[in-house]
Amino acid sequence: MIIAVDGPTASGKGTIAKGLGRHFGLPVLDTGLLYRAVGLQTRVMGLDPDDPIDAARAASFPDSLLQEPDLRSVACGALASRVSVHKRVRAALLERQRQFAARPGGAVLDGRDIGTVIAPHADVKLFVTASIEARARRRHAESRDRGETLTLEQVMDDLAKRDERDRNRAEAPLLQAEDAFLIDNSDMSVSEALEHAISIVEKARQQKG
Ligand code: DC
Repeated sequence: MIIAVDGPTASGKGTIAKGLGRHFGLPVLDTGLLYRAVGLQTRVMGLDPDDPIDAARAASFPDSLLQEPDLRSVACGALASRVSVHKRVRAALLERQRQFAARPGGAVLDGRDIGTVIAPHADVKLFVTASIEARARRRHAESRDRGETLTLEQVMDDLAKRDERDRNRAEAPLLQAEDAFLIDNSDMSVSEALEHAISIVEKARQQKG
C-alpha cells in the first residue's frame, strides 16, 4: 500500500506520515528533507539557491548531509523552498522518491507533490493542512526548542512566504490532488489527527477490497 501525505509547511503532515508508517508497518520518506539537503548544500558549496544551474549542482549532495540536525532549521526550510522551484532540482530528486514509493511492501511519503507527481497511483492520498496561525504557533515552539530566537511574527511571515512560493511555482506546485482526503487539523490534537488519518486509510483500504 502506498500512502501519499501532502500539505503546507508545519501542517503536521510529517507527524501523521510517521504515525501511519508505525501503525501500518510501512517505511516513511520525508521528501522535504531531500529539498532541505539541496538547500543546505548550496550554502556549503557557496552556490546561489535561486540560480537553476547552481541549485542543480547542489542536488548531488552527499547522503551524510541527511543526518545534519541543521536541516530542520527555519533557515534550511526557506532555502529548500527556494531551490525547490527549479525544474532541474525536482528532476534530480524524482527517481529516488519513485524508487522509495515502489518498495515491495509499500511506503508512506510526505511532501508537496506526492499525490500529484511522485505517486499519482497511490492507494490513499491525504492532504493535511491547518490555519496559518496554528501552523505558526507549532513551528515557533519547535524553533524555540531548538534554541532559535525567532519571534512568532517572524515565523508567521516565513510561513506565508513559503506558502506563496510553494503554491504558485510552475513546477509541481503544492496542490490538493482531486482524489485526496482533506484533513484540517487546526483544532485537533496530534493524536486526534493521527486517529482520523488512520480511519481514512482503513476505510479506503476496505473500499478497495
Ligand atoms: O516539508 P518541508 O517543510 O520540510 O519542505 C521544505 C521545502 O521543500 C518546501 O517549502 C517546499 C519543498 N518541497 C517540495 O517542493 N516538494 C516536496 N515533495 C517536499 C518539499
